[in-house]
Amino acid sequence: MAVSLKGRSLLTLADYSPEEIRYLLDLSHEVKREKKEGKILQRFLGKTLALIFEKRSTRTRCAFETAFGEEGGHPVFLSTQDIQLGAKESIEDTARVLGRMFDAIQYRGFKQETVEALARYAGVPVYNGLTDTDHPTQVLADLMTLEEEFGRLKGLKLVFVGDGRNNMARALMIGCSKVGVHYTIVAPPELHPDQALLSLCAGFAKESGAQIRIGTSPRGELEGADAVYTDVWVSMGEEEKSVQRMQLLLPFQVNSGLMSLTGRKDSIFLHCLPAVKGNEVAVEVIEGPQSRVWDEAENRKHTIKALMLATL
Ligand code: CP
Ligand code: NVA
Repeated sequence: MAVSLKGRSLLTLADYSPEEIRYLLDLSHEVKREKKEGKILQRFLGKTLALIFEKRSTRTRCAFETAFGEEGGHPVFLSTQDIQLGAKESIEDTARVLGRMFDAIQYRGFKQETVEALARYAGVPVYNGLTDTDHPTQVLADLMTLEEEFGRLKGLKLVFVGDGRNNMARALMIGCSKVGVHYTIVAPPELHPDQALLSLCAGFAKESGAQIRIGTSPRGELEGADAVYTDVWVSMGEEEKSVQRMQLLLPFQVNSGLMSLTGRKDSIFLHCLPAVKGNEVAVEVIEGPQSRVWDEAENRKHTIKALMLATL
């Protein structure tokens, strides 16, 4: 049956089938080509998009705003400094009002339950632009970048090194296990993902053939990796954990020594950004020949445009 995502929200890739993810990635490659050819298509003409931000953002906000705006749509940025969201007005009420005025809603913030509540009450597609536990639109861009580099996804090996229980490590496990990318987290035991996520992804991996591994030392785990991925040691909202994280994660910095453990010159380095150079990644790696982080950042826009085209 042909895939249709019309009217769907994206709260987590766990809700999407491998075929639906495939559909979004194919469309992403297509919209990237159109953009490079300079096509003006105006496919969101007359449409409006609400962008709710409880946390800061460069890439996600700009990807949504430019992708929507250049297709003729009108994005409206709503920081929680400015609107009522769960403070004076319940999330349900905000969702119902925004749903009457906008064709879609993006939410970036703390709780996954908030984006779920928005989707339940808005009556229009809601997109998760990052929560404490997930970042599905980033993973679409990461998968797209892997595909551009290697021409396929199934059977690739991606190793995430760092805070193995943060939103990125979790979101990547979901995305990779759905599409058949072998996925390893290398992190100190204190920062391993929880059993509930592992069980969920084990089910997806069984279908796709992906192998999921959790390790505590880069040695051995990185061998043969197609891609090495890291993210900040201190995610937004966890600033009070800074000192503890530095101590735990210092041995996990992605530097040229760590990259060499893949045993391959053609393995690539990915990072969702923003990066704290000198912490989770050394300058020589992020600025070096194996880094694909700028393509990855650009692909946020193409994948987000594809998501909106598919669902609106
Ligand atoms: N990768 C990412 O989500 O970046 P921003 O926090 O700048 O949106
Ligand atoms: N783990 C990071 C991701 C930023 C895109 C954070 O939540 O701050």
